[in-house]
Amino acid sequence: MSARKIIIDTDPGQDDAVAVLLALASPEDISVLGITCVAGNVPLDLTARNARMVCELAGKTDIPVFAGCDRPIAGALITAEHVHGRTGLDGPDLPMPKMPLRDRHAVDFIIDTLRTNPPGTVTLCALGPLTNLATAFEKAPDIVERVQEIVLMGGAYFEVGNITPAAEFNIHVDPEAAAKVFSAGMSLVVMPLDVTHKALVTRGRNDAIRALATPVAIAVAEMTDFFERFDKAKYGSEGAPLHDPCVIAYLLRPDLFSGRHVNVEIETVSPLTRGMTVADWWGVTDRAPNALFVGDLDANGFFALLTERLSRY
Ligand code: RIB
Ligand code: CA
Repeated sequence: MSARKIIIDTDPGQDDAVAVLLALASPEDISVLGITCVAGNVPLDLTARNARMVCELAGKTDIPVFAGCDRPIAGALITAEHVHGRTGLDGPDLPMPKMPLRDRHAVDFIIDTLRTNPPGTVTLCALGPLTNLATAFEKAPDIVERVQEIVLMGGAYFEVGNITPAAEFNIHVDPEAAAKVFSAGMSLVVMPLDVTHKALVTRGRNDAIRALATPVAIAVAEMTDFFERFDKAKYGSEGAPLHDPCVIAYLLRPDLFSGRHVNVEIETVSPLTRGMTVADWWGVTDRAPNALFVGDLDANGFFALLTERLSRY
């Protein structure tokens, strides 16, 4: 079977970086057509820099990287340096990138790619706020029906929020963008905190990655060492939740995940719950299901997959 064509839209972010490394380690399964950067964990100039640093770490400098939207559709940008550090990729000491950004805006790359590939053959993997995707759909409504699927990390329901009591970060940064994506009508797979908080990089799992003893593996271990301090202090968890790699792992091994096809709406009005993903888990409304809302994973299988793929570098 030919490799699945994807665009990775991202705001690196240590967990984004691991997701990109997982995708780039799997060329027989995944063809990364491009990486589009968005403001989120840190401002756009840093996410666009970090994405190229990760591509160079992976030895994949042929991957086109594009800068996209530097702020949400409405409201001010909210960033997460308190989680990811000032650079967004604190932990390893990686060199500044040499590979250039591509000239085109990320939104135009998304539009052009969907228009020039056969309908239903390109998957959008969203690892940050959904600003680039929503802006592309607004600018070029014809591309919506050409998307094969969107697999995104975002939202929370039974796990509640991580940036406010009600909202997960990616959705909270740009609720208007999320509302547009969730109402677009295409096939949508959502990896909320409900599942990503079960993908914890415990000490043993991180040691197994570090034991690969390659520059990529050591960088991943150092990213996780930095990234986990926040979640361990906040949740008392055994390690960092690897949020974004769940998106790529789903493409590689969907059998590792389970969820329910339900209606998910986005709160955009109330200051108290802005960015909340309201999942009709028990079907108590007449709102049509619009997303596969993933709630569980085989964590040992996930880390076995991740470690094996990282060993290929
Ligand atoms: O809430 C977790 C999400 O927000 C992850 O994508 C992380 O990288 C940050 O973007
Ligand atoms: Ca992210």
